[in-house]
Amino acid sequence: MGNITAIVLAAGKGTRMKTNKAKVVHKIYGKELIKRVVETAFDAGIDDIITVVGYKKEEVEEVLGDSVTYAYQEELLGTGHTTMQAIPYLKDKTGKVVILYGDVPIVRPETIKKLIEKSVKCEEHATVLTAIVNNPTGYGRIIRDNEGHVKSIVEERDATDEERTIKEINSGIYCFDIQELLLALEKITPNNAQGEYYLTDVIKIMNEKGLKVGAMIVEDNTEILGVNDRAQLEMLTRLLRIRINQEHMENGVTIEDTNNTYIYDDVKIGKDTIIHPNTTIKSGVIIGENCEIGPNAYIRESCIIADNVKIGSFVEVKKAIIGEGAKVPHLSYMGDCEIGKKTNIGCGTITCNYDGFKKSKTKIGNNSFVGSNVNFIAPVTIGDNTIIAAGSTITDDVPADSLSIARERQLNKEGWNKK
Ligand code: UD1
Ligand code: CA
Repeated sequence: MGNITAIVLAAGKGTRMKTNKAKVVHKIYGKELIKRVVETAFDAGIDDIITVVGYKKEEVEEVLGDSVTYAYQEELLGTGHTTMQAIPYLKDKTGKVVILYGDVPIVRPETIKKLIEKSVKCEEHATVLTAIVNNPTGYGRIIRDNEGHVKSIVEERDATDEERTIKEINSGIYCFDIQELLLALEKITPNNAQGEYYLTDVIKIMNEKGLKVGAMIVEDNTEILGVNDRAQLEMLTRLLRIRINQEHMENGVTIEDTNNTYIYDDVKIGKDTIIHPNTTIKSGVIIGENCEIGPNAYIRESCIIADNVKIGSFVEVKKAIIGEGAKVPHLSYMGDCEIGKKTNIGCGTITCNYDGFKKSKTKIGNNSFVGSNVNFIAPVTIGDNTIIAAGSTITDDVPADSLSIARERQLNKEGWNKK
């Protein structure tokens, strides 16, 4: 999109989280709140991000590193004051700036993109992202005139009884013309019920100057929800999870129970794959078409699973490349391994990948049959077309086309019990 800056407000304390950490470094579905917001801005095509930090700022800086520019808010004097801290970084810029909150983590990049596009297309100096909600309690209300133009935003505590009945609320996300925002910020004062510098006041100030102010109503109200306590964190995690599951279903994946399926970000799953309940799939995993996963499967980082693979119940896989048509049907740990095409891994078989110091790899070839309860003491390489006898503890490589048995012979002592 070009020439777009974002300011992420993230100086707040997060008292209701009852935490020793900065609120925005709490993870939602495996990723810090603030990291999600910053990634959303990047995904929306914004490449220049100013993050305003304050409370426990080192923790936020540790998460974001040098991916953003930092501004500091020493005292929490309101959203207008927070935004003012970014002035030194904005004053030589032109174009648009988008305001985001570090604790509003599940807004979609497409929504931000649309907001910017509307602002540009309609030539608005300010475009507010709003929502129509049943219960507007706690939010700033959008005041429109008879023609529907946005005139101002009134905070709950400053609103009249009549204004409080308004169901269109301020999300706190805006797109502004940078230079006009800077001029409006100069004029805001803390003369209100909370004694804060309200960013929302710039809407009225811009209107008074005769500038164009507009709004875009968000389609999915859940996007603008914030995290203020642990219950909201849980609720937003659920919303995010169900959203991700939904996308996989739209791509042709069957999910039997979306309430009990945990697919993290950036997972690819081919069509006609079935995900049974209580399955967790971590970020970055790639799964092919027509696979069957779960129930109770745990697919961890860096797994690549080809087409027609079965990963069954109580199976954990990590850093595993699993070939087409292979089966790991029950009770296995497959870590740091490659499993060839059409190879069958028997129940209870595990890779012993860790010797207490380092991780080692197990390679198993194509068309092999591994009996139940085999231990592969890595590093170890098993050729194609092999059979590994049940109960074997495999410490040495197995050549192709071999049968390998590595267990004690059975000894029956007849009549021993009677003696
Ligand atoms: C603000 C809006 C309100 C809107 C609501 C949406 C104002 C005056 N009001 O409400 O219209 O409906 O958001 O959630 O802007 N923050 C700082 N430093 C501060 C104050 C806030 O960094 O001094 C950060 C917070 O950490 C948070 C965000 O800004 O991420 C919003 O602050 P919050 O107090 O939740 O918003 P309100 O002022 O209640
Ligand atoms: Ca507040």
